Amino acid sequence: MAQSRSEQLIQEALAQDFSGWDFSWLHDGRWYEAEPSWNYRQIVQDRIESVDSLLDMGTGGGEFLASLSSLPAVTYATESYPPNVPVARARLESLGVTVVSFDDDRTLPLPDEAFQMVINRHESFCVSEVHRILKPGGTFLTQQVGATNCIQLNGFLQATTESDFDDWTLAKGVEQLEKAGFQITRAQEEFHDSIFYDVGAVVFYLKVIEWQVPNFTVGRYRDRLLAMHELIENQGAFSAKAHRFLIEAQKRWCLSRTKMTAVPENFARTIVELYGVEGVERSSWLR
Ligand SMILES: C[S@@+](CC[C@H](N)C(=O)[O-])C[C@H]1O[C@@H](n2cnc3c(N)ncnc32)[C@H](O)[C@@H]1O
Repeated sequence: MAQSRSEQLIQEALAQDFSGWDFSWLHDGRWYEAEPSWNYRQIVQDRIESVDSLLDMGTGGGEFLASLSSLPAVTYATESYPPNVPVARARLESLGVTVVSFDDDRTLPLPDEAFQMVINRHESFCVSEVHRILKPGGTFLTQQVGATNCIQLNGFLQATTESDFDDWTLAKGVEQLEKAGFQITRAQEEFHDSIFYDVGAVVFYLKVIEWQVPNFTVGRYRDRLLAMHELIENQGAFSAKAHRFLIEAQKRWCLSRTKMTAVPENFARTIVELYGVEGVERSSWLR
């Protein structure tokens, strides 16, 4: 018996390889996602011109980092998903980038105050570790996927929306960073179109983004996938909303009220006005 159109689309998606963080198969007319109004790539490119040490957290297959021009002399990338480590090394090492594998956000195998800039697109992070590895005054720039990202998929499939990132919003990210000793210099949050043009695109997306619908299998969601196929056949597409936020934050200079006595009063006041800190440890700006 001939395979139905829906089954054909689903099987095609399941058979499709995925390596690194390369969504080109989906972009071939199967899925469209609008860009946020800010341009993460351009912001990073502008910033790295004046930076001598850079870390890209969770580089995937290194696709984004490799696409930038004029990487700083010291450029590192981290990757925790073991299959992606050799993919990232193959792409990045010839560009002078050191790829470091790790398995816990809370203990990065990187020295204290090593980087002038840390970038992070769609990767989890432990705020105290980001703070530790940045030089004082250094910049953390991250574009994050928010809690309600494509939640319409979960709704249609009648799948749980519970996850560790349920409350992951701009407000939460800002709060965590401020508490850890960062000054927020830019913060934006947006919800934009994420449009699926066939059920195979949905299956591929859920296969790759494993955390969107935990324990997703075609077998478990077959009835709802067939209903989604019908809907796409009738309406042309399934529309969801992506959730993104952007934060740029500066690591404050060292805080130490007790050392204030060692600082000439006018100078200390200037530092407080400039950086918004309550006290400055003399050694931190003299070194
Ligand atoms: C969320 S993306 C971001 C990649 C890169 N920062 C970018 O913007 O293109 C990739 C990250 O997801 C993580 N990941 C978790 N599970 C994965 C999987 N099954 N396949 C690929 N990456 C996975 C990897 O650690 C990887 O760093």
